[in-house]
Amino acid sequence: MNITMIGTGYVGLVTGACLAEFGHQVVCMDKDSAKINFLQDGGIPIYEPGLEALVQKNVAEGRLVFSTDMAVSVQSAQAVFVAVGTPSSRRGDGYADLTYIYAAVREMAVHLAGYTVVVDKSTVPVGTARQVARIIAEANPAAEFDVVSNPEFLREGAAISDFMRPDRVVIGSESERATGVMKEIYDPLYLLSTPFVTTTLETAELIKYAANAFLAVKISFINEMATICEAVGADVKDLARAVGLDGRIGRKFLHPGPGYGGSCFPKDTLALLRVAQEHGVAARIVEAGVEVNAAQKARMVKKIRDALGGSESGKTIAGLGLTFKPETDDLRDSPALTILPPLYEKGARLQVHDPQGMKQTAELFPHFTYASSPYEACQGADAVVLFTEWNQYRALDLARIKAVMKGAVFIDLRNVYDPAKVREAGFQYVGVGRL
Ligand code: UGA
Repeated sequence: MNITMIGTGYVGLVTGACLAEFGHQVVCMDKDSAKINFLQDGGIPIYEPGLEALVQKNVAEGRLVFSTDMAVSVQSAQAVFVAVGTPSSRRGDGYADLTYIYAAVREMAVHLAGYTVVVDKSTVPVGTARQVARIIAEANPAAEFDVVSNPEFLREGAAISDFMRPDRVVIGSESERATGVMKEIYDPLYLLSTPFVTTTLETAELIKYAANAFLAVKISFINEMATICEAVGADVKDLARAVGLDGRIGRKFLHPGPGYGGSCFPKDTLALLRVAQEHGVAARIVEAGVEVNAAQKARMVKKIRDALGGSESGKTIAGLGLTFKPETDDLRDSPALTILPPLYEKGARLQVHDPQGMKQTAELFPHFTYASSPYEACQGADAVVLFTEWNQYRALDLARIKAVMKGAVFIDLRNVYDPAKVREAGFQYVGVGRL
């Protein structure tokens, strides 16, 4: 099938490459000609494990091309996926900014030729698919099309395996013909017995927000338990394991930490709150989850300050991990970048390291010192803080760190280390909700 992907950002590029791997002819288009040139020259603008090889393979086999030409890309497509960004609006009110989607759809509509399924892949507020249909009908009254909502559930860092082996595929559609096209697109997944949930447009749009909100609330729940553990002298790691072993609860997403970040949970929880508010209904649990997350980040600042004896002024802090999670170069809403600046403002010297996120962080925070290794970051530091659990930070040589540091405070915001072993190495260990 001929498929066009409008928007070659994170979701568009991963989806386009994976659909090409399924055997479809895919055009990934973007109006950013620098990005398209870069891709045409064999570059990959984002870091995602396995993506480069997948793109190269499908380009070489002639199933994946990149283009800036909307007319050519859309005319021959049987399905057009809209995967442009939906950032939080600049007004800071939590609303998703749909300007990019609507502009792309308006531009695309005039080029539709023959029956085409227009697929909303971006995470969008309830009602967007119907708006998209209205815009297309207005811009091109002769167009023969259906709009489908097909939310994506990819995790950064594991996007390709998530796409190839999803827990489910959600198709919001009000046309059997369009549903048939979507099933054909995802046909390879039928062989893996992937469950397909076919539902209305609004339900599909809400499913995505509900799934992300639930996961965000689950993280806030365990972070709150970690705070209670600290207050009563209990260990959250054992607690999470025992609670998560209840099959009804499940162990995943019960890892306490510095608060959730990334391009999805913070934005989607706020957007869901706005959707509820607009419709005059309460979303108190999600609201509390968002508040607990902000409090968790603030609590981490205090945790670091307390571990440094009550003041960070004049102290050197080694920060390991800047991205919001491992295996990505994404810094959006990264906890490290919320927690480090207030410490800097109060006079701390920051020496940081990250396997992928340093260049972009340096543009935002030129006053931090950027180290070439975690050990270099620890040189002369009073405390080391592990923000992001990259694999290369999981088995650090503690004796080597201790030898280069000035102080001996080890703050493990991901509970990666065994506190006893860190203490044996001569450190004061500080975790999240741990003894
Ligand atoms: C999330 C969802 O997991 C995907 O299913 C969804 O498709 C995606 O958002 C999206 O809407 O596009 P992602 O943001 O890539 O994926 O990353 P996650 O692995 O979910 O992690 C999000 C944040 O939660 C990270 O900061 C992570 O460190 C934190 N987290 C996660 C915890 O603090 N504890 C946990 O137990 C799990």
